[in-house]
Amino acid sequence: MSKILKIKNKISNFKKTITVPGDKSLSIRWVLFASLANGQSKAKNLLMSEDVLAAIDSIKKLGIKVITNKRECKIFGQGINGYKYKKKLTINAQNSGTLGRLILGLLVNSPEPINLIGDKSLSKRDFRRVSEPLSKFGVKFKLKKNNFLPLKIYGTSKLKPIKYNENKGSAQCKSSIIFAGMRTNGTTIIKAKKSRNHTELLCKHLRLPISIRKNKTFDEIKIKKVKKINTLNYRIPSDISSSAFFIVLTALSKNSELLIKNVNINPSRVGIITILKKMGVKIFFKNQKIYKGEKKADIKIISAKNIKGINCPPKLNSGAIDEFLVIFLVAARARGVSYFTKLGELNKKESPRLKWAEKILTKLGVKTKTTNDSIKIYGNPKLNLDINKKIEIKNYLKDHRVFMTSLIAALSFGGKWTIHDKDSINTSFPNFLKIINDLKK
Ligand code: S3P
Repeated sequence: MSKILKIKNKISNFKKTITVPGDKSLSIRWVLFASLANGQSKAKNLLMSEDVLAAIDSIKKLGIKVITNKRECKIFGQGINGYKYKKKLTINAQNSGTLGRLILGLLVNSPEPINLIGDKSLSKRDFRRVSEPLSKFGVKFKLKKNNFLPLKIYGTSKLKPIKYNENKGSAQCKSSIIFAGMRTNGTTIIKAKKSRNHTELLCKHLRLPISIRKNKTFDEIKIKKVKKINTLNYRIPSDISSSAFFIVLTALSKNSELLIKNVNINPSRVGIITILKKMGVKIFFKNQKIYKGEKKADIKIISAKNIKGINCPPKLNSGAIDEFLVIFLVAARARGVSYFTKLGELNKKESPRLKWAEKILTKLGVKTKTTNDSIKIYGNPKLNLDINKKIEIKNYLKDHRVFMTSLIAALSFGGKWTIHDKDSINTSFPNFLKIINDLKK
């Protein structure tokens, strides 16, 4: 099968209802929590993408039995200290920063050193952000150039609780510390800049000894030793980060409407909705419910007639951190200049995404001014490409979100696109192209 996707036409108007796969953050967290529980946990609608399969593979290597079929996934947890594995174990987090960083928090008291590796993209990403706080618990690490994978973690039975100021707004870092804090005698205290809070909500739902004091820009989280984790049956709601591509496609298409069913709308994840509403896109939540501490709803989007530029308040950044690439496409069609600041973290994702945003927008003929942590986008409400305008997207470290954003740009603005490495979608959204094709029918 060719790994190249060619797009020659914009999408015609559509009125549809779709369902996107399960949330990636929740799927990985469910796998990890279930591996620590006492007994069998079941999940339905678990995201079956490469990142989650890597998580399943990792806990299997740690001696945990997993059975998956089309309908559900069963994990047979062995308790909080139940991992069993051979010496010289290597865990491969593949492309997943979430898996690589969170799992280290679970390995802080492992009796044998464990190697952690990842793919080319993950091997370029910062792991000191977790090795540094976890070292304070008494754990030792060896990292390539003190920062990168491959790394080796040397667990200890003499863990001590820590106080830590997490100031990057990284949920991965915060979650890793919470997992480590569960294994120490005493109370670990984290002052964490706001970021997605799925780990905390799962801890609360499982009645683990966690307390959270919310402040404006940060949360103070206290976690104590966990003796036992109950099994957790979970129906994973759909992923707002996967929905984002269809939200933007609908906003940018003429005379279209879309309903996306049963999406996780945790307030720490809905930055894209707030930003696009401020830009004039019509988006509604319907049928809102709370499920195991998480909010979910159906999301309705209507094509936007007048899109306005935005001076995006940085406090919205963490809630939209995975969605900025597609949000920038909306800014490209906006009236006026849009300005996004304090986005240095974007260049630390699966690829340097701020740089990729600049590249894609430039190929679209949109003027930008980019620094290391900001982008100004000079919108054009009439933005449409000549049908013969050739655009090629390649060598983007197989970043799934660069691929999907490029395809949404092609379908929204036209031109003749060649987009390489279409298998990159398997990281987070294996049936992305099928849903696109369903919208075309
Ligand atoms: C994630 C946290 C975010 C996000 C990533 C998933 C998580 O990363 O970009 O895709 O599930 O915790 P950071 O924690 O590094 O900001």
